[in-house]
Amino acid sequence: MVTAEQAPLRHVAFIMDGNGRWAKKRGMPREYGHRFGVKAFQDILSHCDRLGLEAVTFYAFSTENWKRPKKEVDAIMKLMDRYLAECEKKIDEYRFRICFLGDKAAFDEKRRSRMERLEQHTLDRQRILNIALNYGGRDELVHAFRQLSEAGLKQITESDIAGALYTAASPELDLIIRTGGDLRISNFLLWQAAYAELYFTDVLWPDFGKEQLDAAIAEFYTRKRRFGGV
Ligand code: FPP
Repeated sequence: MVTAEQAPLRHVAFIMDGNGRWAKKRGMPREYGHRFGVKAFQDILSHCDRLGLEAVTFYAFSTENWKRPKKEVDAIMKLMDRYLAECEKKIDEYRFRICFLGDKAAFDEKRRSRMERLEQHTLDRQRILNIALNYGGRDELVHAFRQLSEAGLKQITESDIAGALYTAASPELDLIIRTGGDLRISNFLLWQAAYAELYFTDVLWPDFGKEQLDAAIAEFYTRKRRFGGV
């Protein structure tokens, strides 16, 4: 329920944690959990579309995730490539403007150019889907400060920094949802999280469905956001 004092929810971000444990509970390899993780991602994205959210952000692969076994990294990249290929095939019906958060230089030419084509071809869509891929919050800040310093800016403002972040096109972040039971933000959207509400659930990501998202949103609307005021 939207209360009079609560501004509507515009931008939600997800830390999709728990795929590995979900698979292990079923006696399956971790990659199996990621496969179902993609299914949950697609279902949640459709629900966000129905809810009319202006921007949604998903933490798909961090700058630290390269430390995982090669087999698992390869499996995640394969799932990502498959999803991006599907998006490209249906690009005309695709409802979101896709933005990739993170340094694309880590990827080979084929993946990088597909990412760039998707960004270019969806520029006219109103709502934003951010996919954080090879993303780290500290890395994003370093990238932004370098950009501002190379542009020769001396008196740097908050809006200069916000405009140099990967999320420059997105509205302010309202809510971060983390599945999988851990109570931390793991180098995700460090600048953008300044006034975001945090919601943690023990539900593992592949089990996170629209009912769970509705519950998180209902809780968001019970919070009093004071933005440092009283
Ligand atoms: C965290 O769970 C999950 C990841 C590091 C990968 C998430 C990736 C996907 C869901 C695929 C993304 C693909 C698209 C198309 C968006 P974990 O492996 O750390 O789980 P655990 O904490 O149980 O080990």
